[in-house]
Amino acid sequence: MTAKLIDGNAIARKVREEIRVRVEVLKQKHGVAPGLAVILIGEDPASKVYVRNKIRACAEVGIESQVVRFPTTVSEQEVLDCIERLNKDAAINGILVQLPIPPTISIRAVLETISVDKDVDGFHLYNVGGLIAGDSVFPPCTPYGVQKILEYEGIPLEGRNVTVVGASNIVGKPMALMLMQSEATVAICHAKTRDLAQYTILADILVVAAGKPNLILPQMVRTGAVVIDVGINRLPDGRLVGDVDFEGVRQKASHITPVPGGVGPMTVTMLLYNTVASAEREANHAAAGQIAR
Ligand code: GUN
Repeated sequence: MTAKLIDGNAIARKVREEIRVRVEVLKQKHGVAPGLAVILIGEDPASKVYVRNKIRACAEVGIESQVVRFPTTVSEQEVLDCIERLNKDAAINGILVQLPIPPTISIRAVLETISVDKDVDGFHLYNVGGLIAGDSVFPPCTPYGVQKILEYEGIPLEGRNVTVVGASNIVGKPMALMLMQSEATVAICHAKTRDLAQYTILADILVVAAGKPNLILPQMVRTGAVVIDVGINRLPDGRLVGDVDFEGVRQKASHITPVPGGVGPMTVTMLLYNTVASAEREANHAAAGQIAR
């Protein structure tokens, strides 16, 4: 068996086209453009690239965006004040603070200050709780992107065995909750899991977000499994690879996402998706309020 390659760029293009149309409708019907504010603290080169990509993607679909930059020496209070100001700004529908942030600033304080109605990253505890209750307002972008990929590929989840490798707050944990909500049987593995293969071999769908090149070898994968590789690792020779032995595993899987060009393009896409959804919620609330009055 040779796996079907899942083209994350193609799916991202389709979803972004839907978003562009929704932005246009918002502008025509409500006279508003969705707005995203990105807070970038410090000089982390990877964060700068991610933020640039997010801003560029916003422009492509008609979302207004702004970057607020702070030096590493900024105080926690200054950042919280900035978030409070953006919370009150009617032109802003989404706020995100690019992680990581300097250790002098509390991540918890920053994330809990973002209004739950503008938390398009889905990192506020309220939105995390929404995932547990099964009625999340803003699902976090990377697992949301994986969910969209599975939907576009027509891969059913109900009653199927899914193994998630990696239990981070940003990917693994929310991914597992979302899959459970779709009535999959979910196993979550992490760095302390003994004999990882005994879990991965059970998976009809294997989602890997561990940050370790070649963690998943062909003998760990069931024939015909769907393999979603969320890992992004830079090798010493400069190549970008995922967590899966791509050449080996593609001989066994039914579907596989490449790195780059698999999950990556969907993460930014779902940020745009959450931002336009936030603007639609706000516009609908405003319209309902006007009718009530
Ligand atoms: N840093 C790495 N991934 C993410 C993400 O999804 N959102 C934010 N805000 N920062 C990140």
